Amino acid sequence: MPVLRVNNYVDAYRLRAQAEDVHDLAARPDKPFVTELVNRQILDAIQPSSEDFLVDIGCGDASLVRMAGARALKCVGIAGSVEEKLRLESEFPGVSILAGQAQSLPLESRSATKIVCNGMMHYLPSEDDVKAALREMARIAIPGATIWIGEVPEINEYVHYGMYRGNSMLGYLWHLLGHNGLRAFLGMIRRWIKAVFGKERIVLNSAGMFYASPDRMRTLAKSCGLVPKAHLRSKEIDSEGKISDSKLRYDYVFTV
Ligand SMILES: C[S@@+](CC[C@H](N)C(=O)[O-])C[C@H]1O[C@@H](n2cnc3c(N)ncnc32)[C@H](O)[C@@H]1O
Repeated sequence: MPVLRVNNYVDAYRLRAQAEDVHDLAARPDKPFVTELVNRQILDAIQPSSEDFLVDIGCGDASLVRMAGARALKCVGIAGSVEEKLRLESEFPGVSILAGQAQSLPLESRSATKIVCNGMMHYLPSEDDVKAALREMARIAIPGATIWIGEVPEINEYVHYGMYRGNSMLGYLWHLLGHNGLRAFLGMIRRWIKAVFGKERIVLNSAGMFYASPDRMRTLAKSCGLVPKAHLRSKEIDSEGKISDSKLRYDYVFTV
């Protein structure tokens, strides 16, 4: 099957990894300084201590779990698939990772004191999935826990940045021609031919993106048992180290 069609991030990632197209589990493999800023900002906000059980849902390259490990009593990262868990465990021996879905966390009720879910909510395929994930955070949190849900887009970024979402190869090519020009279009035709006659695989993902205004996000979270404490624009950093407010994303702090 040269063109693989999926409708969620976890399957898209798994298939790309199998096709050896993906080598780095970091959310921003080309921008480690952004991940470092994001992690530092989260740790400053949640202040993990030696009393805490910290859970990082959608832990990416596990960098937050590794950084927090020195401060919190217990830290666990939730990876979206078994493949991710195994890769993280072999790369970072001793780091605690569970494979699981945010919508049904493999953790006991009222067990976590600090919960982080950064840069992940928008990958959930539907609003029902988002609600299930929010309910799960409320379930595993002990009363008074701090819950950080970061980088939630306010608008549909796929539309904003002209990114293709769908499962039609012809639709994808047409989109590339219209949005990215002839060079991108011809490059994809070349990849498609290589996929048909060789080992290359093209993964098309038709999943939508979850996005919500701060009002909507707070309302949704409240309906799932979370108590809003604060929200602020996510921070961005450029390659010169200049930090600014994100125009499209917000970070939220909740409790239960
Ligand atoms: C873009 S990375 C974010 C990494 C990290 N939190 C950060 O901010 O740098 C997205 C992560 O979410 C995970 N993920 C996606 N969908 C998930 C789901 N339904 N349940 C749990 N994890 C999920 C992926 O496995 C990946 O680790």
